[in-house]
Amino acid sequence: APDSDMQLIRMHEYLTDLYHHILMHTNEGQQALDYLTGRGFSADIIRKEKIGIAPDMRDFTKNALSEKGYSMELAYQAGLISRNEENFSYYDRFSGRIMIPIRNHQGYIVGYTARSLDGREPKYLNTPETPIFQKRQLLYNLSDARKDIRKQDEVILMEGHLDVVKVKMTNVQNIVGLMGTALSEENIRTLNRLASNITFMFDGDEAGQNAQMSLGEQLLKSGANVYVISIPKGQDPDEFIEKRGADTFESLVKNERKHYIHFKADQLLEESLNNDMAFSTNLNVLADHLKFVKDEVAREKLLQHISDIYKIDKRSMESKVPAAAGSSS
Ligand code: UTP
Ligand code: MN
Ligand code: MN
Ligand code: MN
Ligand code: MN
Repeated sequence: APDSDMQLIRMHEYLTDLYHHILMHTNEGQQALDYLTGRGFSADIIRKEKIGIAPDMRDFTKNALSEKGYSMELAYQAGLISRNEENFSYYDRFSGRIMIPIRNHQGYIVGYTARSLDGREPKYLNTPETPIFQKRQLLYNLSDARKDIRKQDEVILMEGHLDVVKVKMTNVQNIVGLMGTALSEENIRTLNRLASNITFMFDGDEAGQNAQMSLGEQLLKSGANVYVISIPKGQDPDEFIEKRGADTFESLVKNERKHYIHFKADQLLEESLNNDMAFSTNLNVLADHLKFVKDEVAREKLLQHISDIYKIDKRSMESKVPAAAGSSS
């Protein structure tokens, strides 16, 4: 990385230790520490992830960096402080928030997602785009999870940063978090290079289900084997673990995995049953998806499941599947 990038990274490494110290060892951090403990985050995981608290002051971070000899222009460029555009004064960006460090794929801290403690909006404030923090290039926790992902040839995708942190307290380690609601072309290339199997485990609410549905289609079309592990309605992975325990979570991950197309067929079934137009459209969509399933046995099984639940002949479903790109027809 260029020298200027390393300087921005060093500012993050310095502040991360400082925020972490304040969380763990000072009165100022007590409320945030109680909050995290109350949510089931252990001291071990807080230490491992170097989670911290940014004091609720206008100029704590600003002064800390300035005392270290960093220029305010540079701190602003790093997204660590904000600037008043009327009088060009600088002030802390993340005051009063729990600081969750975000590492790039090499393992250097390049930004934060910062959660408010008191209901202040937005709930999460992230580092803005900077020379070292470009969301399209980042997947949260990849530097830690890479080995396990390779070994298992599977990567599990989650929505929330704290979901990833909580799951890291279990034996499931091949997990990464999305940096928002989209997957960039770069993210998709990275995921495909890492593993042949990509599994979604998004929140069990409508937003999570919809995101999983559209991102899953993108990944399927990029050539990946895509699966879904469903979290019960109204919960996310973190809440599931709090309610049901790590063991139940681990067996969920071990035993429940639907192919993306199976998941989608199930999701679309209800609206298809009383709506003949939706029935036709949905079966065409599913048939189109099936051409991306390279494994013949997997495709057979999906064809079987779809024709069973939609009560149609398996061969007529099969005849709707377009020839795979590149194959002769
Ligand atoms: P959720 O609202 O599901 O967050 O948003 P969560 O992780 O379950 O949060 P807790 O449990 O209440 O602490 C999922 C992800 O969407 C992004 C964050 O990355 C969050 O982890 N998000 C959410 C934002 O960037 N800003 C927001 O205001 C809310
Ligand atoms: Mn959510
Ligand atoms: Mn949550
Ligand atoms: Mn959530
Ligand atoms: Mn089913």
